[in-house]
Amino acid sequence: SGTIPVITIDGPTASGKGTVAQRVASALGWTVLDSGALYRLTALAVLQQGIDPADEAAVADIATRLDVQFRPGEVWLSGESVAEVIRQEHVGNLASRLAPNPKLRAALLGRQRAFRQAPGLVADGRDMGTIVFPDAELKIFLIADVRARAERRAKQLIEKGISANLEDLLADMRARDARDTERSVAPLVAAKDAHVVDSSTLTIDQTVQSILDLWSRFLSTPPKAGV
Ligand code: CDP
Ligand code: CDP
Repeated sequence: SGTIPVITIDGPTASGKGTVAQRVASALGWTVLDSGALYRLTALAVLQQGIDPADEAAVADIATRLDVQFRPGEVWLSGESVAEVIRQEHVGNLASRLAPNPKLRAALLGRQRAFRQAPGLVADGRDMGTIVFPDAELKIFLIADVRARAERRAKQLIEKGISANLEDLLADMRARDARDTERSVAPLVAAKDAHVVDSSTLTIDQTVQSILDLWSRFLSTPPKAGV
């Protein structure tokens, strides 16, 4: 068909989605969508404008009017460089508390779909394969056990010069997993047609290669008869 191909990568926090999505996109020469960044940008705007996080309509309105620019490794919100700020823990936590708002999710839908540009898109998040791009050519559900994920996050923080306590990170990660999995709106769940990739014992390169292999296999599979 003439549609622009999409590879979706969904999974829990610190499973490696962002890192792996960037690498897969650059290997293919495709665009990347970090959908979590849109939720984080909304959270930052809510904080900056003093909006009540419980006011679903006001939060959705903020998301509709976000003035965002993405460049590799950079993000601007209303002309302000915010790539570092939106990575902060309090912004991520507010993003995860805002995320169940159905009006917010609806407001971000068109913005996310607009990233589907030639020659292709790699989109990472929680609901890329289930809701935003249900017709994606290849869907990955990237998992890793919670201890491996907490250790990765700790290493990331220590490299940035931020002290990290593994037990605190584990508790925080379990809470985030529960919120993302148990919410009724767009819960974190593998799409029926997703390939589950467990990166617990894989390096980043091995994870990227396994996804590129699945893509090659997709390309060499003849289309279904009658389609
Ligand atoms: O870095 P981490 O994986 O924790 O978070 P993120 O991917 O940057 O997303 C921040 C928060 O936004 C997550 O905790 C999710 O609750 C929410 N989110 C979502 O609901 N749907 C998405 N497609 C992406 C993120
Ligand atoms: O986007 P998400 O929250 O799923 O994870 P990330 O920020 O891309 O990855 C979390 C950390 O795990 C990064 O520092 C990666 O370098 C690391 N990682 C790893 O050590 N091994 C993998 N197979 C994948 C990621």
